[in-house]
Amino acid sequence: PSAPRINPSILAADFANMQSELAKIASADYAHVDVMDNHFVPNLTFGPQMVDRIQQTSPIPLDVHLMITDPDRWAPGYAELGAASVTFHLEAAHDPVALARRLRAIGARAGVAIKPGTAAEPLFDILDEFDQILVMTVEPGFGGQGFMPETMPKLRMLHDEARRRGSDVWLQVDGGISLDTIGQAAEAGADTFVAGSAVYGASDIEAAVTGLRTLARA
Ligand code: DX5
Ligand code: ZN
Repeated sequence: PSAPRINPSILAADFANMQSELAKIASADYAHVDVMDNHFVPNLTFGPQMVDRIQQTSPIPLDVHLMITDPDRWAPGYAELGAASVTFHLEAAHDPVALARRLRAIGARAGVAIKPGTAAEPLFDILDEFDQILVMTVEPGFGGQGFMPETMPKLRMLHDEARRRGSDVWLQVDGGISLDTIGQAAEAGADTFVAGSAVYGASDIEAAVTGLRTLARA
């Protein structure tokens, strides 16, 4: 298996000091950018103009997580501004396969996310259309929530199915990932780990990234 990726979520960063907050995660793999529209989730963050500046400022590539309604309309714009990956929610997409193909055509990795209550089976036959699958380990909308271990069987199922099909799709987890929980997610098959409060809440951010990376080697 490839080396685990640690993607700090800037949702937990100080929004008034984004440039220095981004500099602090230079040793991580991707900066995870949570776009929320107050509609798909009951919270609002930022849109393309802010993400464009984050993209120009970040020392590492962007992993954009769209928690928005109608990603078919908005997701390609995030790929066009240079995000390395763009992940939309399966629950919100009208045509997930067509959207994934458009994202790839623009040059981004195409990602699809599922909420804790959404089944994984509908993704099995379209795994090849995606570069990464995000299994939410909290209800999307807010940082700092508790990890939901009941999502682990679904993650393991996706992992086994991907193996069975010879797919090299990345399996990402997001929500409540910390030194205490990252091991179970790795053990269930995740290879890409989003962490907000566990990174930005640490007194030594670089040490937090290293610690997570070590424990993610299941
Ligand atoms: C939640 C977001 C997460 C969030 C994770 O809807 O998608 O990326 O920032 O934050 P923590 O790691 O604090 O649970
Ligand atoms: Zn996220």
